[in-house]
Amino acid sequence: MIKDFIDTNQFTKQELLDIIELSLAIKKAIKSGYYPPLMKNKTLGMIFQQSSTRTRVSFETAMSQMGGHAQYLGPGMIQLGGHETIGDTGKVLSKLVDIVMARVITHSTVEELAEACTIPVINGMSDYNHPTQEIGDLCTIVENLPQGKRLEDCKVVFVGDATQVCASLAFITTKLGMHFVQYGPKTHQLSEQHKAILEANCKLSGGSYEVTDDRNSVKGADFIYTDVWYGLYENEMPKEERVRVFHDYQVNRELMQLGNIGCKFLHCLPATRGEEVTDEVADSDSSLCWEQAGNRLTAMRGLLVYFTRCCKGHSELQIAAAKEELDRFLCCRLGK
Ligand code: CP
Repeated sequence: MIKDFIDTNQFTKQELLDIIELSLAIKKAIKSGYYPPLMKNKTLGMIFQQSSTRTRVSFETAMSQMGGHAQYLGPGMIQLGGHETIGDTGKVLSKLVDIVMARVITHSTVEELAEACTIPVINGMSDYNHPTQEIGDLCTIVENLPQGKRLEDCKVVFVGDATQVCASLAFITTKLGMHFVQYGPKTHQLSEQHKAILEANCKLSGGSYEVTDDRNSVKGADFIYTDVWYGLYENEMPKEERVRVFHDYQVNRELMQLGNIGCKFLHCLPATRGEEVTDEVADSDSSLCWEQAGNRLTAMRGLLVYFTRCCKGHSELQIAAAKEELDRFLCCRLGK
């Protein structure tokens, strides 16, 4: 079993479906009033090199709902990569918490951390990908499949910039045998390296992909997805420039009408309203983006349980023996 959740391309289609099903099963249990104590006595270390609303809040809520605890290690709050190497931080955290999540600026940081940690590490977004977002998005798609369609029958069109969210959506949809399109300007399309991965995924899964600036590619979409036009971290574009580059790629009513009847709108959020999406679409009945944000919590619960399941629990006998030994010490040495 793979210890860490860094990149969905390291997992099989079946393993990813297992994580999605587990996430939805826990969601159903909680909706019915049963909060499974699957993270009881466990602590999650949450490293953030960047700010976050959805990722931070959903991880923390997931831990408390399942009986565990989360520690927020925000930008500048720990020694990571400063006075202490990433490797040493990983070794230390492995002695102090049970599982780590990290939102990092550079993908190699989370890879290095996972290498050094003896406990599971979950990638909470890097400049390369956003795999926890992928699981939440697929939960949302599974819950909103067009009538009579399986995942493999669905066409998902990502509109706009080749962000890490775009790459991630391309990875998981092609892995699961779906039909993925990036409709974006030539200067901001998925790279040849991305395409080599998508090619390999499709070969195994029977899915397909297309990267194009042809508006006709949106036709027949079951889901239309977009993300901000800012660009990645240090390459953020000024407003005037991004509007010039992307103005044809706004998700508005006209663009949504190119999709199939009942086509749904997705956005990882945060959104820059009036840029990549209009208010009319974001707030429409076709918009799943709020449900999608809620499914970040669904995904985090599933991921936390899936990646800590290899950590063995203790038998009733072991627990009773440990209690007896401690009680004897307290009684004999401290008179308690
Ligand atoms: N979509 C997402 O990851 O949101 P945050 O940056 O708020 O975590």
